[in-house]
Amino acid sequence: EKGGYDYFMLKEIAEQPRAVADTLLGRIAADGRLVLDEMRITDQELREVDKIIIVACGTSYHAGLIAKYALEHWAGLPCEVELASEFRYRDPILSRSTLVIAISQSGETMDALMAVRHAREQHAKLLGICNVNGSTLPRECDGVLYTHAGPEVAVASTKAFLTQLVAVYLIALYIAQVRGTKWGDEVFAMIQLLAQMPEKVEKVLETMEPVRELARSLANERSVLFLGRHVGFPVALEGALKLKELAYMHAEGFAAGELKHGPIALIEEGLPVIVVVPPRARAVLHDKIVSNIQEIRARGARTIVIAEEGDETVEPFADTLIRVPAVPTLFQPLVTTVPLQVFACELATAKGHDVDQPRNLAKSVTVE
Ligand code: F6R
Repeated sequence: EKGGYDYFMLKEIAEQPRAVADTLLGRIAADGRLVLDEMRITDQELREVDKIIIVACGTSYHAGLIAKYALEHWAGLPCEVELASEFRYRDPILSRSTLVIAISQSGETMDALMAVRHAREQHAKLLGICNVNGSTLPRECDGVLYTHAGPEVAVASTKAFLTQLVAVYLIALYIAQVRGTKWGDEVFAMIQLLAQMPEKVEKVLETMEPVRELARSLANERSVLFLGRHVGFPVALEGALKLKELAYMHAEGFAAGELKHGPIALIEEGLPVIVVVPPRARAVLHDKIVSNIQEIRARGARTIVIAEEGDETVEPFADTLIRVPAVPTLFQPLVTTVPLQVFACELATAKGHDVDQPRNLAKSVTVE
């Protein structure tokens, strides 16, 4: 059932192009518009939304952090992202025009379910993003958008995460389409580009051997840092989470802009730092991160740089360069997360750990 792979996790990483394609399937009409009727939330209801709050845990929370950039940009709505375990014990300010989006692969995470109930008490509209048909979350929500990752067996989430990203892009672009924000040019073009993402993810997977080699060479390190900006910041958090849970290694993700506010003190000779570089098209973001790479390298860090194909500016400052296909900035997490999954998986395997069943972790956290 592992389809020839040693671990489910390896199989699930490899399945990602298919999972992304299946999550797009049937949702882009022949005329290039999105069709999400299945969501059970009407266009009229979406037009009335004036604020979005996303609640989730762990890797699903990282998908939520990325969703914020897409929802603000395309849907033009204020968006907050909350850890479900914090949200449920606070007094959030919600109304009938608030859309609460709960993201959960399993649909059974207790904190996510409790956050949804908490939001219901204040009459918010509730939308679930979920991978398991017939689980509890879709029943607790007014509407649901299913991801079609297929069963995810490995405890660490990989393909479910990529499909959650697809789901939030679909929702952000759909709200833009319904509300008329930027409809006609950028949104239409983005839907077409989203349809190409399965091939882009496939291309990343074809070039992972150097990443596996790198991972094996770092198996005895004590700590790895991850840096990113914009949507690269949640990707850095996700890369660090994967390394913690699989390799039991100290790993932290930072927003690159925060370096000078503390984390740069951690940089020492030889410390591996993985940096996610935004597309060159976002010149301001891109150039800032190139300066960050220079700053940490000058202090002795071993720089491992993930950058798009054709980006030559990073070459002089990268001890190791990992290439990903050029895609729009907001979609970049679909291609930059994959090398980080492969990295964590290979490093943990090199240390002799069972990547499907990391110690102390359960696939769905149904207790508090
Ligand atoms: C990390 C991981 C967990 C889950 C979290 C939420 O690899 O798998 O952090 O993302 O427990 O689970 P769901 O999405 O089922 O609510």
